[in-house]
Amino acid sequence: MKNYSKEKLFELEEKYILNTYKRLPVVLVKGEGVYVWDSEGNKYLDFLAGIAVNSLGHCHPNVVNAIKKQAEELIHCSNLYYIEPQIKLAKKLVEISCADKAFFVNSGAEANEAAIKIARKYGKSSGKNRFEIITTLKSFHGRTLGALAATGQTKYQKGFGPLPEGFKYVAYNDLKAVEDAINESTCAVMVEPIQGEGGINIADPEYLQGLRNLCDKHDLLLIFDEIQCGLGRTGKMFAYEHSGVEPDIITLAKSLGGGVPIGAVLTKGSASNVFQPGDHGTTFGGNPLACSAANAVLDTLESEELIKNASVVGEYFLDKLNEVKEKYPVIKDVRGKGLMIGVELECEGAQFVLEFQNKGVLINCTEGKVLRFLPPLTIQKSHVDSFIDVFKEVLKDAESRIP
Ligand SMILES: Cc1ncc(COP(=O)(O)O)c(C=O)c1O
Repeated sequence: MKNYSKEKLFELEEKYILNTYKRLPVVLVKGEGVYVWDSEGNKYLDFLAGIAVNSLGHCHPNVVNAIKKQAEELIHCSNLYYIEPQIKLAKKLVEISCADKAFFVNSGAEANEAAIKIARKYGKSSGKNRFEIITTLKSFHGRTLGALAATGQTKYQKGFGPLPEGFKYVAYNDLKAVEDAINESTCAVMVEPIQGEGGINIADPEYLQGLRNLCDKHDLLLIFDEIQCGLGRTGKMFAYEHSGVEPDIITLAKSLGGGVPIGAVLTKGSASNVFQPGDHGTTFGGNPLACSAANAVLDTLESEELIKNASVVGEYFLDKLNEVKEKYPVIKDVRGKGLMIGVELECEGAQFVLEFQNKGVLINCTEGKVLRFLPPLTIQKSHVDSFIDVFKEVLKDAESRIP
C-alpha cells in the first residue's frame, strides 16, 4: 500500500470525503496509552481521547487481545442467534447499574433512537396517546433524525427539516420549566446528567431528583443520556450515581467498546417490557467482536481501578485549573466532574486548540468558548502537571484576545 504524504492526504480528503468535518492539520497513525503519534513522528498527549472514547488509553492490551481472540473465533453471526459475549456484557451492565435489561446498538445516536422508541411505545400503553419527550436546551443526543430532533440546539438542526415532531425543549437545570412543559401528550423526559457538547454543564442533584418525582407523578419515563458522561468518566461508574437518582433508561456508547463501535440502551422496571419481538432490531448491534471489546473495557475499568483514578486525578486537575484561573483573567469558569472538564473562556476557544496541538497536546473546544478536556481515565498527576505547563504557555498573551 502506498504511503501518502501529509499534504497529499489533505488533498485526497478534500476530493473524496464528504465535507462534514473541519479537521485539524495532522494525520494520526499510532496510539499507545495516553499518547498518539502523527505521520511525521510527533508525539501528543491526548486530552481528548477520541471525544471520551479511549477511556483506557490507546490500544490497551486487554482490548487488543480481546479483539484478536474474538476475531479468530467469530466476528459476526446476526442477532437471530444466541451470542455469549453479548449476554455476558448485558449481565455485567445490569450488575453494575440500576438497570434490569440491555439492548446493543452501534453508536450513541442509535442508542437514543432506541430510547425514544421505547418512550413512545410506553406512552401508547393503557390506551393513551402520549408521544412527546421533553429535552433540554444545549443538549446533544446525536445526528440521526430522531436524536437530532431530541437535541435542543437549532444549529445542528438547520436545513434538515421537517424533523420528527414530538420534542419540547426547556432550559437545563430548570425544574419549573419541565413541570410547565408536561401535558397529556408527554411520555418521557430526557437529559444528560452532565451536558458534554453543550459546554460541560452539570445537573444539580435536586434537579435530577425533581425530574424523578415529576416522572413518577405523571407516569413518564426518565431517560439519562450517559453516552459521554457514563462509564467511569466522572469518577463514578454512572454519572447518575452522584445524585443517587435512578432513571428508567440509560443510553451508553463512546467508551463502551474501547474504540470499537458499540452503544447500549439499559432499561429498568416497566421500560424493560415495552419492546416485543419485531419492534426493534439492528444487523450489527451487539455482535461478538464489539461485545468482546466492551467486556474487556468493563473488566479493565474494575481491575485497574480506573474510576477511582478518574475521581482522584480529576480532583487534582480541577484544583490545578482553578489555580491557573486565579492568574489568567481570560478564564471565566472551571467546571467538571472526574475527568470530564470544561474551561470557559472570555473569548472564542477554537484558536487555542491548534496552539495546544502545536505544543504536543490534543484538546477540543465546544460551545464556542469552552475548552474541553476528556483525557483517558488512566492519566496520572504527572500528565496533569505537563498539561498545566502547556496551558500556561498557551494562555500567555490570551488577555489581549478578550474582546
Ligand atoms: C451525550 C451524547 N449523546 C449522544 C451522542 C451521539 O453519539 P454518536 O456520535 O456515537 O452517535 C453524543 C456524541 O457526542 C453525546 O455526547
